Amino acid sequence: MLEIDGLSVRYGPVRAVEDLSLTVAADAAVAVLGPNGAGKTSTLRAVSGLVPHRGSVRLDGAVLPGRSPRRIARAGVVHVPEGRRVFGSLSVEENLRVATVAGRGREARFTIADVYDLLPALASMRGRGAWALSGGEQQMLAIGRALVASPAVLLLDEPSLGLAPSVADRIYDTFRRLKGAVGLLIVEQVASRVLGIADTVVVMREGRPVGSGPAAEFADPVRLARLMIGVGEEDERAADV
Ligand SMILES: Nc1ncnc2c1ncn2[C@@H]1O[C@H](COP(=O)(O)OP(=O)(O)O)[C@@H](O)[C@H]1O
Ligand SMILES: [Mg+2]
Repeated sequence: MLEIDGLSVRYGPVRAVEDLSLTVAADAAVAVLGPNGAGKTSTLRAVSGLVPHRGSVRLDGAVLPGRSPRRIARAGVVHVPEGRRVFGSLSVEENLRVATVAGRGREARFTIADVYDLLPALASMRGRGAWALSGGEQQMLAIGRALVASPAVLLLDEPSLGLAPSVADRIYDTFRRLKGAVGLLIVEQVASRVLGIADTVVVMREGRPVGSGPAAEFADPVRLARLMIGVGEEDERAADV
């Protein structure tokens, strides 16, 4: 279980994240939704030790080391960053083989064969240079690389961004198959797909959590959009009275 408690991130005068708390159970999926600039990426970067933060982040009760991305990944918190970074000069399979290093010393939760089973498109292009992959294929490879690092929790930063809808659907099908085996913390601007898999939703705006609860409470797209952009709340409250 990943527990984020009172997380704050600042870049000089910019308050990117303010007092965010959330929990990702080992078999759960949590969605963090928010518009551009809400602090979603900063949250994931803080959890994985890439930027300094205040507040605590614990995995199964143990506080994760501060700015030590490698140790955090080895502890089982594995980040698939925005922009899906892969090694362009290596083949698909070489990318996966390199990534198994992060999981060394712990029981392998997913082998390369498991990745090919979950993401068959990768199996059929295992010898291809990663530079030649489409955006969707690179995203699949980035997810595959995260899996062979033996995650307890996967941090996914806008995994559907810039992908054709059918490709994004396939990526989310993969998450659905992973759910239960690994904790999922998925950050998105677009709610539609992630609401179908998330147990819990946290909405962020300007660095602050402005709503959280079971995913079903966020099913109304108009209400969700208002929460995300922070307009119409007075009207809504007045209408509720
Ligand atoms: N390296 C940085 N230096 C200064 N400000 C940053 C940096 N990265 C992000 N920010 C600012 O922090 C806020 C949150 O950004 P970010 O976490 O990227 O949000 P999101 O991922 O939700 O779009 C924004 O105001 C952004 O401009
Ligand atoms: Mg972002």
